[in-house]
Formats: sequence, C-alpha cells, structure tokens
Amino acid sequence: PLQFAVFGHPIAHSVSPQIHQAFAQQFGIALDYRAIDAAPDAFVDAIGHFFHEEQGRGANVTMPHKAAAFALADERTPAAARAGTANVLTRLPNGRLSAHNTDGAAMVRDLTDRHGLDLRGHDALLLGAGGAACAVAWSLIDAGVQTLTIVNRSPESADALADAIGEPARARTRYWEDLAGIGSFDLIVNATSAGTLGHALNLPFSLAASRATCYDLGYGKSAFGFLAWARVAGARYAYDGLGMLVEQAADAFELWHGRRPDTEPVYQSLCVQMA
Ligand code: ATR
Repeated sequence: PLQFAVFGHPIAHSVSPQIHQAFAQQFGIALDYRAIDAAPDAFVDAIGHFFHEEQGRGANVTMPHKAAAFALADERTPAAARAGTANVLTRLPNGRLSAHNTDGAAMVRDLTDRHGLDLRGHDALLLGAGGAACAVAWSLIDAGVQTLTIVNRSPESADALADAIGEPARARTRYWEDLAGIGSFDLIVNATSAGTLGHALNLPFSLAASRATCYDLGYGKSAFGFLAWARVAGARYAYDGLGMLVEQAADAFELWHGRRPDTEPVYQSLCVQMA
C-alpha cells in the first residue's frame, strides 16, 4: 500500500494515523500511515529515509518540526511561505518535496463551517506569535476579521508578524503586560504553547466580550486551562482544536488522494473518544 506518516516528538499519542485510516475507509483506499518519532536533530535524516528509501508518498509534520519541514522542502506553497512553517510534505512525481501549510485554513473552516461562526466584522485577539500563530493569523485576515490584535509574551515576534501582514489598520500588536487594559474581543484564539507546556496564562477576564468565541489550537489536556478560563470569563463558545486537527488532515488527504473525505463522522467519534 501507499506509505504515509506523521513526524513529531513526542508522537506516540497522535490520532493522525486513526484519522487517515478512517478517511481511507470512506473510499476503500488501502494505505499505510505510521507515527514516526524523530528527535529534532534526527528529523532531516528521518524525512530523507522515509521519502527516498521507503518510497513515502506524503507526511504530516507536527511539533516541533514544522519550521524544519518548511526549510528542507524543495518547493513551498504560498500558504506555507507566508507562515514560514509546514504541516504537510508531499513527494512530487519528480522526487522533489513540496511543503504546504493547511493549519490556518483548517482552523477557519472549523470555526465557520463546523461551528457556524461568521468571522467578518469580528475583532479578534491572537495570543502568541510562534509557528502556530503565524499559520492562523493570515487565515483570520483572509476570513475577513475586522481587526486582528496580536499579543505575544515577547513583543518582537508579534511585531514581525503584524509587519509581515502589512495591513496596519487591521493587524496590530499590543503588549502582553497591557492585556487588562486593551478592551474586549469577539474572538480570542490561544496559539501559545503554554497549555502544552503545562503553564497557566493568567489572562484577565475583561478580554472576553459577552458573546465571545474562544478557540484553543490545542486539544485535550493542553486546552483545558484556556477553555476553563473562557467559560469563567463568560465567553459564549469555547472550542478546542480537535476540529482543526481533523480539517487539516482532510486537506492533506485531499492533496495526496485527490478526494475530499467527510470529516464530520471522524470528528464526532474523536470527540467521544477524547471525552
Ligand atoms: P508553536 O509551534 O506551538 O507555535 P512556538 O513557535 O515555539 O510553538 O511558539 C510558542 C508560542 O507560545 C510563542 O508565542 C510563545 O511566546 P514567546 O514568543 O514569548 O516565547 C508562547 N508561549 C509559550 N509559553 C508561554 C507562556 N507561559 N506564556 C505566554 N506565552 C507563551
């Protein structure tokens, strides 16, 4: 069968193999999809081995390899280029590796199509300015948010992201220290890795407008702290990134197999499994 894999570190608990097998079943496609644990200094060799020795066809890439995946590719889609990171690598017929980033589009599709949110006119707050934040910032702009306020613990990377977007009237930055005084937002996206690292963000409740939607790019235990904060802050909706995970998998699946899987049954069964 065709060879696929997800690369990460750690990766043992990844549900990507399960998601891709569920999609493949929808079309009667046989595929081999493995989780490959590669330490950062072993990632480039592991990718080379997978694609060139094992005839790998495509790979998903997750923490902490997304920037390295982008860097090693021979070609990059515009979505990957503007994010500076990649979550999908595909071996082209000529043997070259193409890098794509589907995270931002996946997150917006989860919010709009699955959760029914119309982002146009929203004042959005993006917490974080690392790899994950860069991927979703552009897609929030694409989706028509009215303003995107980017706040990062280290202000330099927030400024760099806002500068790259280059729409100062819409995408602007504030200081983390000033969070209590910057008003409230309709959409708050947690793109920091604090939850994954087991750290609390200590956000002021004033950030959440009364009908606010809060979204954590992580899922499971890493999203608990932020989503609990969101509920106490009075947010109307609080979602984790499980839907985004399934949507980005569907984008990779479509790139590799040319078919669009039905994500909803897969999302629903993962929700039950994770509960
Ligand atoms: P990822 O790929 O998950 O985005 P990353 O590129 O290392 O990982 O980015 C991590 C993000 O989480 C950064 O925005 C980081 O802030 P700094 O740029 O100041 O390091 C943010 N972050 C991590 N731990 C945090 C914490 N305890 N409080 C606030 N922000 C945190």
